[in-house]
Formats: sequence, structure tokens, C-alpha cells
Amino acid sequence: MLIEKDFLVIGSGIAGLTFALKASQFGSVAIVSKDNLDESATLYAQGGIASVMTDDDSFELHAKDTIEAGRGLCREDVVRIICKEGPARVRELIELGVQFTRIRGEGYHLSREGGHSKNRILHANDLTGREIELTMIEAINSQKNIEVFPHHMLIDHITLGRLDSKIEPGSSKDEALGAYILDVKTNQVKTFLSKITLLASGGAGKVYLYTSNPDTATGDGIAAAYRAGAKIANMEFIQFHPTCLYHPQAKSFLISETVRGEGGILRLKDGTTFMENYHSMGCLAPRDVVARAIDHEMKKSGDDCVYLDTTHIEGYRTRERFPNIYQTCLKFGFDMVDKPIPVVPAAHYTCGGVLVDLNGQTNIRNLFASGEVCYSGLHGANRLASNSLLEGLVLSNRAVSKAALLLKAKNFKSPMHLDIPSWDCGNAVDSDESVVVSHNWEEIRRIMWNYVGIVRSDKRLFRAERRIKLLLDEIKEYYWNFTITKNTLELRNIALTAHLIIMGALQRKESRGLHFTLDYPKTDNNWKKDTILQDTTRRSVTQTSIGNIS
Ligand code: SIN
Repeated sequence: MLIEKDFLVIGSGIAGLTFALKASQFGSVAIVSKDNLDESATLYAQGGIASVMTDDDSFELHAKDTIEAGRGLCREDVVRIICKEGPARVRELIELGVQFTRIRGEGYHLSREGGHSKNRILHANDLTGREIELTMIEAINSQKNIEVFPHHMLIDHITLGRLDSKIEPGSSKDEALGAYILDVKTNQVKTFLSKITLLASGGAGKVYLYTSNPDTATGDGIAAAYRAGAKIANMEFIQFHPTCLYHPQAKSFLISETVRGEGGILRLKDGTTFMENYHSMGCLAPRDVVARAIDHEMKKSGDDCVYLDTTHIEGYRTRERFPNIYQTCLKFGFDMVDKPIPVVPAAHYTCGGVLVDLNGQTNIRNLFASGEVCYSGLHGANRLASNSLLEGLVLSNRAVSKAALLLKAKNFKSPMHLDIPSWDCGNAVDSDESVVVSHNWEEIRRIMWNYVGIVRSDKRLFRAERRIKLLLDEIKEYYWNFTITKNTLELRNIALTAHLIIMGALQRKESRGLHFTLDYPKTDNNWKKDTILQDTTRRSVTQTSIGNIS
């Protein structure tokens, strides 16, 4: 089946939906979403969206906090533009109908999170992402120019170079033409042709055993972009959120940093506080510092968790400000008004990703990326809390403007006339060994948690790399022999993404931001640069393509 659109948007969080809404003014749009349209990391964002909203705050201060958190790796021009364009984009969200929490009779209630020198987090209590996502979907549904494809998953990008072996990788003819997409419900592969493709498929938290991310976060976009020859930057910077609920059934439920912003205090089992020993901002230190401090304290004491204490805050305030967190904790037997709750760090945000410029353009022509899947330079070596929704919003807006200009250019070549082959599954048959997928999946996530976590060492990284390489070979064989399913596609993506994280971590011979290694515990100015990974071998878009792992 062939579907032709001017714009193909892969992913349906804030970055994808912003792009789709704006792009629909310039042409037809398809939104492809792996699950239900609303199922994305955006839906679960609790904290909010950082933006300069008051006279006592400034773009310079927001930029300074962002750059400080990013530990010397932020691209300062990108930081300044995103901070500066933020408020206008936030106002557009409000015009669309997003209801941020207000103070009675006054303006918006602004929260504080780690690393911020001002209260500048707009929120809808602790369900900010849900409010944004559902409002945007309502707007999407009323646009005739947008067609949505829920339960459709990216297999691989189609580029000219991958169809014609005579084209050199990286040549001007190496451009995005669309993608092969799996209809998850029917297992049929569809060919999407598009003039412009936006990758907005989110991060890769599911690469780790414990994560605050939804099940969809399997690094699909990063892996597919890498296989297509896109540059991937700084994958070693995986952000661990310091406070996820510690309970076997809670699936690392996030306890928003705004809980600490409203006065929550981290304590050890015996009630003593410890963050003052690690940073002058105490419990509101940047996230890398807090997560490492908790990890250190847990290792020192042998305890399974630390505690977040909000019992000194009036109960009605906690219940009103954090209705979702309060109710969820209660469901698991913890009343946070009465007793401190047990918390642990968990993988939360992929700071590295597909390298893009100020307009979200990748090194592959007509392929853009925005949101968690990309590396724009905003986050550097450590993302400042609540800057991610902001990045998706601003960058996607800029990407649409740039894409519209490209489409208008006289020399723009549409892929619609090209004879693109349909998906070829070769001799693949249905698998009778699906257990291989679940075993490998579990093994990868455990390896990454044990050896590529908050504290790393060369020995642990090499150990992880050896094991991941074996698994990649096994998965490649499996992928070649059996008909693809969502599970096999996700497995090959988490395996490749795990490999990229390890490669980035092995390259960086220093500790900086979210990458801490016992072998190089200091920050080294010679490493004030990005790690870039790129597959320069020509890989055809067939069922055999898994990316270069050597
Ligand atoms: C949180 O609410 O703590 C998460 C916000 C973020 O990751 O930016």
C-alpha cells in the first residue's frame, strides 16, 4: 500500500503535533504513531514547561541556568533562541486552549525545579503533559489536511542512497523520501512517500531496566536515523530522574521534581538529610548531582531507596498541587501527607540523539528531527528540568518554517514521481520462537542498568559492549529469518540504541554532566566537544538492515 503526503510526521508528542499543526497550512500531513495517538512521553510529563513569564526573570537567566546544567556542552546560540522564542510559543499553546494552573485572581502559578534560579515552570498541576497533549490532539482532529495513523511503527527511512547502490553515502542525492511503516494491527508494511519527514518519536528510556518512560520509548527514531546515515550525537548522556516511586508494582512512577520545588526534602532511612553535602542548592541541585548523590548514599548504606518527605507541607496543599502523584502513591499504600515516600533514580531522558541544526535539520536532506529524539545542543551534557517540552515546541515551529521554504524553492525535487519498491520481506516466515525476543529484551535492559548506569567504568562498559554485540548478531539473524512484528522491530532498536550509548560512553574519556566514569572522574577541557556516531556504510532498506555494529 502506498501513501503519499507532503509531510510525514513520525511521533505524536508535543514535537510531532506542533509540527503537524503548523505544516498543515502548507500541505498534506500524515502523523504516524506507534500506539494510540496520545501515547507519548508528553502525555506523562508532570513538571511542566520552562518559560520566562515574569518581569523579575529574563531570557539571559534562563539561558544561564540551561548552560550551567549542560556542563559546557550546550550550543549557546541554540539555548538563547529556544529560551527567547519560548514565551511566544507558550502563548500559542494557551490560545489553542491549554489551561495552565493559575493563582486565584492573578497570573499563572510558576513552579521551581532543580537548577532553575527562578520560578518559571508553567504547569497544569501535575498533569501538564496530559493537558497539552489532549488539547493539541483536539486541534489536530479538526484539521482536514492531517491524516492520523495510530498503531503504525517506523521500520526504516527510505533514502535515495539506500535504494540505489551507485549513490555515494552523504552525496547530495542521499535524501529522505519517506519511510516503510508497519501497521501494527495487521502486520502489513506500508510505503509512505513524503517531501519532508519529521522524526519526533521520542527517547530510549526502555533501554534500561528501570525507567520513568512509557513502553513506547524504545529508541526507534534514533536507531532508524542511524541506519539511514544520520549523525547521532552525545548518546552517553542519559538522564536519570532522582525520584521515582520505589515499589515493585509502580513501574518507576515519576515523583516530579516540582515536589522538591514546593519544599519536599530528601532524607535517608534514619531521617537525616544529605543533599547539603553535595551541592549549595541542596535538594534542588541539578538532576545529575541529585541522582548521583542518591546512588552514592544507597551504595554507602546498602539501603534500597531514600525517602522524599513532604509531611511538613499542609496536606490540602499537597493534595491540591499534586493530585495525580498523591493518588498514585496512595494506591501503592503511601500517604505522602503523613509519611515520607520511598524513592530511587530511574532512566528518564535521552539527552543525546539525532544531530540537528537550529531549524531541526539533520545531515540527511529533507529529514528533520525534533524533541527527545534529537540533539540540538539545548541540553548539552545534562538537561535542565522542564526544558524538553519547550525544545519540542520551539524547534518544531522552526522546522516547519524551514521546511516550507525548502518546498517553495525552485530546485526542490518531489519524490512522488519515483518508482519506490514495495517492502520486500525476502524468505521470512512467521516465528515460532517469540520467547527469544522477550529474553533478549530483558537481557539488554539488565545489562544497561548494571553496567551503563549512573556510575560507569571502562571495565563495565566493555563488558556491556561484548554482550550487546552478541545480542545484536543474534537479533540480526532473527530479523532476517522471521516476519517482522512490533516486538522484533523494538528489540532491534533497543539493541542498536544500547550499542550507541555504550559507544558514546567509551569514546568520552572524562566525566561530564550525566556521564560519570570511575576511570576518568574529572572533567577534561579537551573533551569539551560532542561525540558523533555515524554509519557510513551503505545499507539497503530490506529486512536485513540492522545498522553497522562493527
Ligand atoms: C519532573 O516533573 O520532575 C520531570 C520534568 C522533566 O523531566 O523535565
